[in-house]
Amino acid sequence: MKRIGVITSGGDAPGTNACVRTIARRGFAEGIEVHGIFDSWDGLLSGNVRALTRQDVAGIVQRAGTILRSARSTLLTKPGDAQLAIAALAKAGIEGLIIVGGNGSQSGAHVLAQAGFPVIGVPKTIDNDLVGTDFSVGFFTAAEVATNALDNLRATAEAHSRVMIVESMGRDAGWIAVEAGIAGGADLVLIPEHEFTLDGICERLRVRHDVHKRNYSIVIIAEGAMDTHKKLDPRRGTKDVNARPRLGGVGTMLALEIERRLGYNARCTTLGYLQRCATPIAVDRVLATRLSDFAYDLLKEGKSGVMAALAGRELEAVPLAQIAGKTKRVTDDYFRLAEIFG
Ligand code: F6P
Repeated sequence: MKRIGVITSGGDAPGTNACVRTIARRGFAEGIEVHGIFDSWDGLLSGNVRALTRQDVAGIVQRAGTILRSARSTLLTKPGDAQLAIAALAKAGIEGLIIVGGNGSQSGAHVLAQAGFPVIGVPKTIDNDLVGTDFSVGFFTAAEVATNALDNLRATAEAHSRVMIVESMGRDAGWIAVEAGIAGGADLVLIPEHEFTLDGICERLRVRHDVHKRNYSIVIIAEGAMDTHKKLDPRRGTKDVNARPRLGGVGTMLALEIERRLGYNARCTTLGYLQRCATPIAVDRVLATRLSDFAYDLLKEGKSGVMAALAGRELEAVPLAQIAGKTKRVTDDYFRLAEIFG
């Protein structure tokens, strides 16, 4: 291959720039042109594509966001989309593509690969809900942000004798909440995978405060979590331009319910995009570099339709057919740790 492309799509995640830099630098070293596709799939269709320079990728390993910019797109979800994308890639002279993205992006990658275009995926999502890989780029930084929030908010919770709730991201899976819940010693960890009732939660808080005589509690709830009776329904609000439910708010609903039922002072802090825009921690920078370096190798070797993945300490190529359309949920074992040691 003489020219390959790199695109970042879906929600940004800390470490994405480290992916772009790795792929570009492999190209510089081996005389293969690496073209950046700017503004994601819309940018591809409008021809917003150019060769990345050393200048472009200098000093970006530590930068959050993505120099290529990103977007959520419905391209590659409809019949004929793959042909449109392939025509645009051909026009730009791109012979193979590395897609850095989360669930939607890897499903798109699968569609493109099935249509015959050489594609390799790199897993990137703070939600860590991509199957086939132990971890995705951005997750560890997001979990660090949530852990720091729990650590800091403990002081205010204790000072004001409050129930402090932290709402983390995690649309369909509660990986951030569980990781931070364990690391930050949360008293309750609430995630989409595990049912809970408001009665059950309130009883646990009551026992902690009235029986164990603690004056405060720390709770972490993933934005997609919902109680069994659907009193807290995170999908109740408006939809975004892609008709996706706009999440964010379940923690505040929970605080109001706790105040109403128990009479304890409760407050919620929603972390939101602070988890996505944070400076990537070392482990995410290194993971991004390893996965992208491997993705480049796979493309060069003529592989397609696979995602570079982490299995234990090793890297492996996982077929996109096994990944597309699936969600990696928090395992019972891992959640059990949060229940006992959170
Ligand atoms: O990237 C995944 C995610 O962080 C989800 O946890 C969250 O619900 C979503 O992005 C929000 O994305 P946006 O508002 O940027 O579309």
